[in-house]
Amino acid sequence: MDKCNRSLISLADYSADKLMYLIQMAQRFEQCPNRRILEGKVLATLFFEPSTRTRLSFETAANRLGARVIGFADPKVTSGTKGESLKDTIKMVSNYADIIVMRHYLEGAAKYASEVTDIPIINAGDGANQHPSQTMLDLYTIYQSQGTLENLDIHLVGDLKYGRTVHSLLAAMRHFNPTFHFIAPDELRMPDEYLRYCDRHSIRYVEHKEFNESTIAQADILYMTRVQKERFSDLMEYERVKDLYLLKLDMLGKARPNMKILHPLPRVNEIEYSIDDTPYAYYFQQAKNGLYAREALICDALGITLNEL
Ligand code: CP
Repeated sequence: MDKCNRSLISLADYSADKLMYLIQMAQRFEQCPNRRILEGKVLATLFFEPSTRTRLSFETAANRLGARVIGFADPKVTSGTKGESLKDTIKMVSNYADIIVMRHYLEGAAKYASEVTDIPIINAGDGANQHPSQTMLDLYTIYQSQGTLENLDIHLVGDLKYGRTVHSLLAAMRHFNPTFHFIAPDELRMPDEYLRYCDRHSIRYVEHKEFNESTIAQADILYMTRVQKERFSDLMEYERVKDLYLLKLDMLGKARPNMKILHPLPRVNEIEYSIDDTPYAYYFQQAKNGLYAREALICDALGITLNEL
């Protein structure tokens, strides 16, 4: 397999078979997360934007697989502050590591990185564009909680404009006959390019402005998102929309018994803390699944197959 195929920039072009194969791999890692199959390998984590879960779960995954980890969590400590370009940074790190996991604030940065190096790049989030490793753990979590990815009602709530996790999920779910409900204020509605994407791929969707007990009664998955202050150029606009879509305990009265609430996290105030103790809350399990999904993605990018596990 060539380097372009081994880099993970987006899951949009992955087939249903490939996604199910990665879910199987993640299941294997859930059964046994510690497997020293990457002994002698080095994984670099280059985080140009803040992260807790993505960076730490990738680093944990590498450690549990026997690899060593290098990298940075804050670009201010790198020679980027002296004017070094992203291209040169990637070329330098490629001299030291076997694989790079990169989060960057610019859309397209991960793709660009994959074009200037021979080692695999895993996109850990590029601006408001894509977050494929999050999507892989989301798929794993949906499969784990529902027993299938097929024919589900998935309600996406909150910041659908800047939310790279919802953009990635939309594309990956297209194989599985979902019905999406996009619940957002005008300012944060799903961008037209993604609505057109749904139309092109015959993905059913309904847009809502209301967020109440009735709107979410038909959900199998209620996917909450944070309104991302850091993506707004106009902070007044952020103030206007930040508290519009808050999930409260008394909104769950009509929820389906199988319904699970997901959230990529971090949350600010969009899910009331009292919901954490209900059987609907699944976001902490979702974050835990990040370890297994990322073990699978690292192995896949390094050419290790399910048969070798
Ligand atoms: N879900 C997610 O990307 O979390 P972090 O920003 O903490 O990595």
